[in-house]
Amino acid sequence: MKWALALSVPLIFLAINATSSTLGDSATGTVGHFGENIHAGPWKVFVSYRRAVSRHLAMLIRVLLQREIVPTFIDVEDLGAGHWDEQLLEAIQESPNFVIVLSNGTLDRAIGDSNYTDFLHKEIKAAVDSSRNIIPIFDEYTHPDADFSPEIQEIMTYQGVEWNHSMVNATVDRLISYLRDTPINSTVTKLDP
Ligand SMILES: *[C@@H]1O[C@H](CO)[C@@H](O)[C@H](O)[C@H]1NC(C)=O
Ligand SMILES: *[C@@H]1O[C@H](CO)[C@@H](O)[C@H](O)[C@H]1NC(C)=O
Ligand SMILES: *[C@@H]1O[C@H](CO)[C@@H](O)[C@H](O)[C@H]1NC(C)=O
Ligand SMILES: *[C@@H]1O[C@H](CO)[C@@H](O)[C@H](O)[C@H]1NC(C)=O
Ligand SMILES: *[C@@H]1O[C@H](CO)[C@@H](O)[C@H](O)[C@H]1NC(C)=O
Repeated sequence: MKWALALSVPLIFLAINATSSTLGDSATGTVGHFGENIHAGPWKVFVSYRRAVSRHLAMLIRVLLQREIVPTFIDVEDLGAGHWDEQLLEAIQESPNFVIVLSNGTLDRAIGDSNYTDFLHKEIKAAVDSSRNIIPIFDEYTHPDADFSPEIQEIMTYQGVEWNHSMVNATVDRLISYLRDTPINSTVTKLDP
């Protein structure tokens, strides 16, 4: 679990309610640590993805958003270890925007998962239940004709972004244009650089 946001530039960005209790660094994290200034959430964007099929694209999106100074949460360790689950769900609550990377296979384990045992499915439910601004990224994705939960049926109706490998900047610009700017229920403060 990489539970920290790192920016290599001085932070003049408006962020919300940064609390030191959620500050952390991971000895095992191999990606996502870009500098000395580590700030924990709340996050402007939570990136949700299926590790097996989308980890590289998800990380690329995270890095590109952070290049544009958009605080972005992505977990970089395996999901499922009990106590982290809560914190992932909290990170969703603290992020007004929920980006879900859809590659072929992403939602396969959510098919017929009526009890939300699949963690990605749980994240999607949390995002829908808490009315996040949900933005699907379609990575040459074909949606299976299958038995999906109402939450997944709902996210498939949202305006999304087709990932275009040959037009990365334009694709990221479009994604950014879909982000909701105002943190939902937080007071705005300035992060220390
Ligand atoms: C969901 O949970 C209920 C109650 O624990 C159980 O009876 C049911 O078989 C589960 N459904 C699935 C698809 O696992
Ligand atoms: C995803 O699946 C569809 C249908 O099987 C296929 O046409 C498409 O090429 C696949 N995309 C990738 C990136 O493999
Ligand atoms: C990506 O952009 C190029 C250049 O505009 C276009 O030719 C191509 O069809 C696009 N690909 C997708 C998947 O939209
Ligand atoms: C993409 O955007 C970055 C940063 O905004 C810029 O430095 C780079 O030149 C752009 N690349 C292209 C091909 O436009
Ligand atoms: C924002 O609202 C959610 C749900 O209404 C709540 O759980 C959370 O604590 C709130 N966050 C802040 C920073 O007030």
